Amino acid sequence: MTSLKAQPMPTSFPKDKLRVVLLENIHDTAISVFEADGITVERHAASPDRKALAAIIADAHVLGIRSKTRLNFDMLSSARRLLAIGCFCIGTDQVDSSAAAAHGIPIFNAPFSNTRSVAELTIAEAIMLTRRVFEKSEQMHRGSWDKSADGSHEVRGRTLGIVGYGHIGAQVSVLAESMGMRVRFFDVASKLPLGNASPTDSLDELLAVSDIVTLHVPACAQTDTLIDANAIAKMKPGALLINNARGKVVDIPALRRAIESGRIAGAALDVFPDEPSGRDDPFRSEMRGMRNVILTPHIGGSTMEAQADIGKSVAERLVSFVNSGSTGTAVNVPRIDAPPQAGLHRVLHFHRNVPGVLGRINTSLAEAGINVRAQRLETHNEVGYVVLDVDAPDSEAALQSLEAVPETIRSRVLW
Ligand code: NAI
Repeated sequence: MTSLKAQPMPTSFPKDKLRVVLLENIHDTAISVFEADGITVERHAASPDRKALAAIIADAHVLGIRSKTRLNFDMLSSARRLLAIGCFCIGTDQVDSSAAAAHGIPIFNAPFSNTRSVAELTIAEAIMLTRRVFEKSEQMHRGSWDKSADGSHEVRGRTLGIVGYGHIGAQVSVLAESMGMRVRFFDVASKLPLGNASPTDSLDELLAVSDIVTLHVPACAQTDTLIDANAIAKMKPGALLINNARGKVVDIPALRRAIESGRIAGAALDVFPDEPSGRDDPFRSEMRGMRNVILTPHIGGSTMEAQADIGKSVAERLVSFVNSGSTGTAVNVPRIDAPPQAGLHRVLHFHRNVPGVLGRINTSLAEAGINVRAQRLETHNEVGYVVLDVDAPDSEAALQSLEAVPETIRSRVLW
């Protein structure tokens, strides 16, 4: 980590002086949250160029971005006043998160705001594939009227196998059961089954009993081509596969062969090993043109409801940090959830996490004769975070004591 000089932020300030800048057309729900807390927001529809961004970041206390605005170490180094960054999206790759941590700047995002959207798409696809609706629709577009029931089924009574029983998998489980499906799941972690769902002992067992297999695992070394030719061979003949997780979880050539041979009756894919970078970049995939294969452009989580929830959820996390120093949902700094205590002042202190620093903090406070009413410390990688509650008359002296500690990155008083 690059060593940084202390950047003291000595006072709480009135809400009307807090400069919150939201870029990239962030949803109105975010504005409502800030305004309800007496904070005015400056909005920009687009992501500014580097020069304009540098000017904005130099003065902002809170910066809200989506996926287009990139914040690297140099850009963050000019963020003299920045308290926090809100990534109004799911991922935070666009920000150098360790650089932000090194500057004592928490990043907040909304990892679960689109959970329901993905779950609903999955359920819709389970029905569409089981009824072969897309195939019928394509025939109709070509002028063909085929009313045959061959290969069409109800989902009621069929077994849905969920791989990965996390936030999305568990939602899918609840929705599927409400339609009369039997739900089995496999997860590497022990999970509480919801409703009448039940776990299998292995992935192989899940594949063998499921009429529809739906994937809800993260992308990682263990899930890379988790569904390969071997796994497909263990699925029921005529089973269906849904992948709304990450593209690399499925071995696409193996899936294509299985569908061509009729071993697998159909698939729905929202994610791909190589996804186009934008509208002008053509979609290339071996899965194009196949019967009973639903292709969607990574829109599992893309709904207006998810956008609204992201706006609200990230704004609430930012307001909570501004008001109380709570970092319980931050992605890059030590996590402390600390409701403010009535009548006390609070000192927030980010510091470099090196041996002996807590001792120096406490010695410095003791030498100043500060009566500490509550103290919480957490560390994460190379950064430590202390939240200190003191009697009101002591807060300035407590701040000065903490800033005297050489490892200080940033500090701030709340009252
Ligand atoms: P989560 O972290 O809540 O759940 C993932 C679950 O998978 C965990 O319970 C974990 O223990 C389990 N798991 C990990 N490795 C496993 C393995 N090898 N076998 C079985 N289980 C395993 O994640 P969440 O929020 O449910 O998301 C799931 C996936 O959905 C992620 O890949 C995420 O990126 C993707 N996603 C896709 C979206 C889209 O637009 N299509 C939108 C949102 C998420």
